[in-house]
Amino acid sequence: MSNIERGSFTTKIGVIAATVGAAVGLGNIWKFPYTAGVNGGGAFILVYLVCVLFLGLPILLSEFFMGRKTGQNPKGAFRSLSNQKGWQFFGVLCLICPILILSFYSVVAGWTAEYFWQALTGGLEGKNTAELTALFQGFSQDPVRPIIWLLVFLGLTVGVTLGGIKNGIERVSNILMPVLFLLLIILAAHSLSLDGAKEGLSFMFKPDFSKINAKVILDAMGQAFFSLSVGLGALITYASYFKKDTNLPQTGMIVAALDTMVAIIAGVIIFPIVFTYGISPAQGPDLVFIALPNVFNQMIGGQIWAIAFFLLLAIAALTSTISMSEIVVTYLAEEHKFSRKKALAILFAICGTLGILCSLSFGALSHLKLFDKNIFSLIDFTASNVLLPIGGGAIAVFVGWFVNKHIIYEEMQQGSKMKRSFFAVYYYVLKYIAPIGLLLILLSQAGII
Ligand code: PHE
Repeated sequence: MSNIERGSFTTKIGVIAATVGAAVGLGNIWKFPYTAGVNGGGAFILVYLVCVLFLGLPILLSEFFMGRKTGQNPKGAFRSLSNQKGWQFFGVLCLICPILILSFYSVVAGWTAEYFWQALTGGLEGKNTAELTALFQGFSQDPVRPIIWLLVFLGLTVGVTLGGIKNGIERVSNILMPVLFLLLIILAAHSLSLDGAKEGLSFMFKPDFSKINAKVILDAMGQAFFSLSVGLGALITYASYFKKDTNLPQTGMIVAALDTMVAIIAGVIIFPIVFTYGISPAQGPDLVFIALPNVFNQMIGGQIWAIAFFLLLAIAALTSTISMSEIVVTYLAEEHKFSRKKALAILFAICGTLGILCSLSFGALSHLKLFDKNIFSLIDFTASNVLLPIGGGAIAVFVGWFVNKHIIYEEMQQGSKMKRSFFAVYYYVLKYIAPIGLLLILLSQAGII
């Protein structure tokens, strides 16, 4: 086995802050509102919540189990829990998936950095919806500026990951996640005072069941996996750094609950703004970047809110990108004996190149389309809606059917006072409901049922 010295998270709060930091990010604040908007609101959100509870959470707990039990990267974890070689293929998937996600994610993270800069230099001040739309389009289609931000962001990610577990990830997360939370709650309270609050809330919470179709369900599932960071070994990797006294079930539930809460709060912030300022909820990926500056402009001290918000959003994105790069680094270090530095240099080169293509797909390369999707959406779709569910399904089947139940129970019990009945429910959902649900969704998307 590897002889690499492994760090670990030092405190309980550190474990939760870092794991919540990995889960909470652009997925909650940028992707959730626009995906909900595109898919008609309430019905999507309902399906999303069902997916979090019956697919996301059991798989998240299983990743925790695999990581802490084995103390290894995803491929090593599969290997040490089963001698059937085939499973290691899914370990390899845990190398490809974070690379794909990091590539398009860094583009959006770069956008947040640009908006932080714009807020700082007064570039958003006094602009109306039309002007803000033009500003975003001009920027995102620019061949240079977004690419510079993307590379700066990737560079930062690589830099913090190089610092390792204790000095890098834990320290950053501990301080900044609570501040972000507070800011979101203040913004939500402000949104609820707007004229469009009632309409915004009913868009979110009054499901129109006639809107539920195969695409809505697939998008909701993909969003649940993406937001919880399950299905690609991020949580196997993080849990491999947990100590034996970490309470796995409790930590898992806190992470899932906070992650879901942040997404819902983001919706409560965005949709009242959307209906107050006549923005289309189905606007797409630019929704947050157009909706929010609108409202900052109306708030007292608006510029300060804008600066704080985009800074924290960029940081939330950073705590997520760090987790993606950590998966890759741990994997390459343990499976291929790469140094952290070398692994990170390779990661930077690959994600930088793919990221540039994603960024250009809003401008110079916008004509390049496959299945009616530009490069950016194609990579997002492939990773979030195809690979994450496949990876998640593999983890559910593996832990549910191929690992001895008592081993799982014993590991889950270390550091927790988990009730037998809780374990029984988790195990049942993992073994039967999650795999069947996933299969049905993937088959219906493929047009087979
Ligand atoms: N969950 C993160 C978010 O919501 C994104 C992410 C996906 C992070 C996969 C790590 C792994 O922004």
